[in-house]
Amino acid sequence: MTFLLLEDGTAKECECRALRIAEEKLKISGVSEEFRQMRFENFSYERSVETIDAYLKAKSYSKNFSDIRAARQNSIMFLGQVGSGKTHLSMAIANSLLDKSIGVIYMPFRDSITKIKQSITDEVNYNKEMELYKNAQVLLIDDLFKGSVTTADINAMFSIINYRYMKKLPIIVSSEKNINELLAIDEAIASRLIETSKGFVIEFKGKHLNYRLVGA
Ligand SMILES: Nc1ncnc2c1ncn2[C@@H]1O[C@H](COP(=O)(O)OP(=O)(O)O)[C@@H](O)[C@H]1O
Ligand SMILES: [Mg+2]
Repeated sequence: MTFLLLEDGTAKECECRALRIAEEKLKISGVSEEFRQMRFENFSYERSVETIDAYLKAKSYSKNFSDIRAARQNSIMFLGQVGSGKTHLSMAIANSLLDKSIGVIYMPFRDSITKIKQSITDEVNYNKEMELYKNAQVLLIDDLFKGSVTTADINAMFSIINYRYMKKLPIIVSSEKNINELLAIDEAIASRLIETSKGFVIEFKGKHLNYRLVGA
């Protein structure tokens, strides 16, 4: 470990080491270059009342993260309309945390759950994959419950979400489902997410919020 000796006689970890750790975290985060570009700075929040509200909540979550992170209510959810900026705002939070060297793991629901299920007969790999999502400092689940959801999908997600719930580890969720739809898919999962996201449940309703259709 490299230390810098400061003039007042104290030692401080070398910045290059901090940078190396940050780079390592980004490398394992699963966040692609495209997603690294999704920032608060390039999000146009003044499009609608819903967009302003979502932006302010995301900003406030990100800004106050160090106070929020260990609390019971330490998660955030972006729900509803396709193309409304759910992934963009989730990534804006993740990017601001990654910039501060906080480990965020990106979990695109469909792809990750397929990979988890494929590795189910390979215990070592399965455990490795599950550990990554269970113990990440912050977990970003993108497009939760997209597509047809099986019992095996629900079991794997419950295992991850319940573990994080017990350990009070924060989760950022994006999903096209609304609260009632999430509850109908699995009440145990949805109720934990809703409880831990109190004050930070953002729901986009209506086609007019589809950024891809309406344009910049
Ligand atoms: N308010 C916004 N300002 C700037 N870009 C936006 C905004 N909302 C969405 N986008 C862009 O539109 C595309 C779709 O947004 P995305 O966050 O992927 O939608 P969702 O996850 O809700 O389906 C992305 O390229 C995103 O960067
Ligand atoms: Mg999305």
